[in-house]
Amino acid sequence: MTYESDRLRDHVAGELSRARERTALLTEAVDDGDLIRQHSPLMSPLVWDLAHVGNQEELWLVRDVGGREPVRRDIDELYDAFKHARRDRPELPLLGPDEARRYVATVRDKVFDVLDHAQLEARPDAGSKLVENGFAFGMIVQHEQQHDETMLATHQLRAGAPVLAAPAPPVPPSPVTGEAFISGGPFTMGTSTEPWALDNERPAHVVDVPSFYIDRAAVTNGQYAAFIDEGGYEDPRWWSPEGWQHRVSAGLTAPQHWQRDGSSWAATAFGRTARITDDEPVVHVCYYEAEAYAAWAGKRLPTEAEWEKAARFDPATARSRRYPWGDDDPTDDLANLGQRHLRPAAAGAYPAGASPTGVHQLIGDVWEWTSTDFHGYPGFVPFPYREYSEVFFGREYKVLRGGSFGADRSACRGTFRNWDYPIRRQIFSGFRLARDA
Ligand code: AVJ
Ligand code: FE
Repeated sequence: MTYESDRLRDHVAGELSRARERTALLTEAVDDGDLIRQHSPLMSPLVWDLAHVGNQEELWLVRDVGGREPVRRDIDELYDAFKHARRDRPELPLLGPDEARRYVATVRDKVFDVLDHAQLEARPDAGSKLVENGFAFGMIVQHEQQHDETMLATHQLRAGAPVLAAPAPPVPPSPVTGEAFISGGPFTMGTSTEPWALDNERPAHVVDVPSFYIDRAAVTNGQYAAFIDEGGYEDPRWWSPEGWQHRVSAGLTAPQHWQRDGSSWAATAFGRTARITDDEPVVHVCYYEAEAYAAWAGKRLPTEAEWEKAARFDPATARSRRYPWGDDDPTDDLANLGQRHLRPAAAGAYPAGASPTGVHQLIGDVWEWTSTDFHGYPGFVPFPYREYSEVFFGREYKVLRGGSFGADRSACRGTFRNWDYPIRRQIFSGFRLARDA
């Protein structure tokens, strides 16, 4: 074994364990009744997510990479996300909480054994790209972390006394407002070199983006409240036809979880209700609400390419970085990620994480809606399975970028792409504005 491959093996083991600690925290915070219950028809019971995480890990790492015998072949169908819609999952004969915990632990033990024997380094004679640079393990780490964010969204929809707590995010040394100018020209979007990048982030390709302005901070609660107070939800002028139709039929009057509090607003987060903080990014808005706010403000949402150029392009070197601050992985002083704080941080709270052009908090805090439909990049190749991305390509889904306070650093990069229906707002979604130059 080379030093490099031992280091990679240790990294993989650490990332697997870190994901499992998060999963354990989210599933042990509530009693069995709350694990089995469906807290919203939009979400699975938490106990489904738990066993689904184990089942994906079994399919890819125990059976495929490891070539081992199945742990539980009989449950594959139950935990196949394409076989049963979320709303129907509580009626399925799911593993109970204790059985699910035993199952994921058994799978994990086998995975550590598979990891010990895996050939992680790229080799020209390797039969499959699946384990190259530990990709299959990285994919499963990210899968678990993505479900941990989904489980956090389920916690947000759960009624009852609070069970999760976290320290408040850092306070900005100085507030951040205004816009940055991103000058027109080509930049490299996506990646062909990031070892754990998922198929939809690939390949790297050059995109010519005309000059534009982008806000240095995401739209805040205070700004969003002004839109409401000035009648934004009553005026179809600001809404697209589809957006207005949804606004009316769903009866939207404010972001999800907001309630009137005298002349201001309160919001409920993880079972606690408090007055909104004006300078924090607004969260739990759908694409249509973001679009309407942008029109009211006389601006627009950024395209996905604009967002990524703002987040990655360094005008001094004309090179695309991995993150706004450079190529180093996120740390606690760079971005609000990883469920360390259970809310977005105020604008300006992460000055060290700003881009070279002075755009703040592109990574972390809230997922940011872009105006772009989810499609494959030129030269896209599904890998290792069509159902991760390709089956979602089309006009039904909008791309979100940047990750939220609920997203883990392993599942968030300058190239990372998330997507959802434009009506969804149970996710930790916000937005920032752009305009033509
Ligand atoms: C990338 C967040 C849209 O949750 O549907 C989880 C991630 N894919 N299991 C989703 C995912 C398979 C996915 N998103
Ligand atoms: Fe999944």
